[in-house]
Amino acid sequence: MAGEAILDLVVVGITEPVPGVRSFRLAAADGRELPAFVPGSHLILDCDSPDGASPDGASPDSGSPDGGSPDGGRRTNAYSLTSAGFAPTVYEISVLRVEDGNGGSRWLHTHLELGSRVTARPPRSGFPPIARASRHLLVAGGIGVTPIVSHLRAAAHRGQDRRVLYVHRAGRGAHLDDVRGLTDGRAGIFTDRVAFAARLEETLVDQPLGTHLYVCGPGPLIDRVVGSARGLGWPGSRIHVERFGAGTTDPGAPFDVVLTRSGRTVRVPSGTSLLEALEAAGLAIPNRCRHGVCGECRTPVTAGPPLHRDLVLTAAEKAAADCLMPCVSRANGPRLEVPL
Ligand code: FES
Repeated sequence: MAGEAILDLVVVGITEPVPGVRSFRLAAADGRELPAFVPGSHLILDCDSPDGASPDGASPDSGSPDGGSPDGGRRTNAYSLTSAGFAPTVYEISVLRVEDGNGGSRWLHTHLELGSRVTARPPRSGFPPIARASRHLLVAGGIGVTPIVSHLRAAAHRGQDRRVLYVHRAGRGAHLDDVRGLTDGRAGIFTDRVAFAARLEETLVDQPLGTHLYVCGPGPLIDRVVGSARGLGWPGSRIHVERFGAGTTDPGAPFDVVLTRSGRTVRVPSGTSLLEALEAAGLAIPNRCRHGVCGECRTPVTAGPPLHRDLVLTAAEKAAADCLMPCVSRANGPRLEVPL
């Protein structure tokens, strides 16, 4: 985003807690304290291509709200922070290596070593805890545990009521010790999906008024948890999700975008992003990640509610409905107007 600070970071710690996952500790290269962040935030890293080649496809890596950028051999990926966010001297992320992703996770796994320098945008919040919640019910699938750990640290620090259900593949459960320790051993941890599903239903039924539900993991898991909660009468205002890839798996419904300056109308088919449709119509929209992560493509909206699917705008900015990220976001209806 124009004018945004760039953080110059150095790798001060690397561990591999489970096969395929690397945890990185990143400190400011000048030794200063880092910007604080809201629990559940993500850090946007500039990842250089391993060999100077273009990124290897547009599909997002799993394990992060991760976007890839076809930007001259560079890409911008977002990774959930696992620390709590108070006066941080290091940022901590855990990255699942995905072979058929956009290449960012492979680059981090193979090219970062102690002392490596990386640049990043300051943390952004898209999955914050609700301060007034009487209880935080946190559900994680696989590497989706990363923002959940951040929530847990903050809730434990504040002495807030917190419960966790965590499902992962056998032998691949990252941050298990953190989850157990931060819940005083009361977390429900599963490698059996049937047992997880049964516990989920029981848990969703049996919660005190004012509980807020937070879910992060693969899309099918999120859809299942949210579907169950809604079916049991949970209001949408108490359900919060963090999707990896900023909703890029949903092709979305077709709609028309009206370009108010030129008077033209452009059709945006299902499976085509608004950004792609505008480019096909001959408009040059600045962009970088094309996955709703960097904020570069931010475009004003003058009419028609947007369907926001990015990881950039805050909840208040989304509610204002006066701009959107056309690389992932669409119209929430048949028509959108933009002053282009
Ligand atoms: S290009 Fe990065 S948010 Fe759209």
